[in-house]
Amino acid sequence: MSKKVYVITGGSSGIGLAVIKKLINDPSNQIISFSRSKEKIERALMDLEETPDNLEFYEGNVCNEDDCLRFSEFVKKNHNYINGLVNAAGVLTSGGIENISYAQWKFNLDVNLNGPYLFTQNLIPMLKAAKGASIVNVSSIASMRPGRSVAYSVSKAGLDMLTEYLAGEFAPYKIRVNSVNPGFVRTNIHIDNQIVNSKEEYETMALEVARRNPLGRAGEADEVADLIMFLLNEKSSWITGSIFKIDGGTLIENDFLPVKKKS
Ligand SMILES: NC(=O)c1ccc[n+]([C@@H]2O[C@H](COP(=O)([O-])OP(=O)(O)OC[C@H]3O[C@@H](n4cnc5c(N)ncnc54)[C@H](OP(=O)(O)O)[C@@H]3O)[C@@H](O)[C@H]2O)c1
Repeated sequence: MSKKVYVITGGSSGIGLAVIKKLINDPSNQIISFSRSKEKIERALMDLEETPDNLEFYEGNVCNEDDCLRFSEFVKKNHNYINGLVNAAGVLTSGGIENISYAQWKFNLDVNLNGPYLFTQNLIPMLKAAKGASIVNVSSIASMRPGRSVAYSVSKAGLDMLTEYLAGEFAPYKIRVNSVNPGFVRTNIHIDNQIVNSKEEYETMALEVARRNPLGRAGEADEVADLIMFLLNEKSSWITGSIFKIDGGTLIENDFLPVKKKS
């Protein structure tokens, strides 16, 4: 198998796109992105400046059974095996049980938890065929400490357990499953999901995040992609079932940290 095949859900934006930017540099990699909207794919293509020969954008919804089945048939026909799968597609709705509707709750659980389950399930034969595949789920530190969204936190907590469960279930096939759990990372997620309504509001939120962060800044998608690349690579061949925080120290805030003044 000289060619390596990588599937990235949510590859049209943010962390998924940052992973793609690293993978496309090696012409022996074949990358397939899976996401819903044409607009975001076009935005990603503008960002990439040109479409590399080794990248395809496939349109589909991770929580739609027909889309996932159609996609698995497409991969089987064209590639037959998958060396790396990154489940990065995700949505975010802000609020607690008094603020968000049952439909919004279900939407978050569907995309962030049922999506990775369904999408991965459809690709099992191709993951097995690679004889040493790596799956990386993109979760969040919101899975470990309640954030500002009950639905998002619960969906990501479920995803962490899915990571651990699948790591055990897939170990006999030498398929590794790990999770990367970022803190606040500068991507389109907050604007595209209407958490904030303008670029100005976004910058205010990012400044507040940076003020409270022990390392004094928000994260970049490129930094999260570096960790994902390590987990996709054979250099991490003895790592499975692990949950990696990448948050500039957000979750280790304690009394020993110097108090930061509001500017
Ligand atoms: N940015 C952060 O601060 C942060 C922090 C912690 C964790 N994360 C996690 O990191 C992952 C990536 O987030 P990001 O910040 O890169 O977000 P982003 O820039 O908004 O990108 C999200 C990607 O997911 C795709 N997507 C959303 N729903 C989908 C669905 N149902 N089916 C297929 N694709 C879908 C989007 O495209 P379409 O909408 O066109 O489908 C887009 O390509 C998410 O799982 C998120 O929860 C992000």
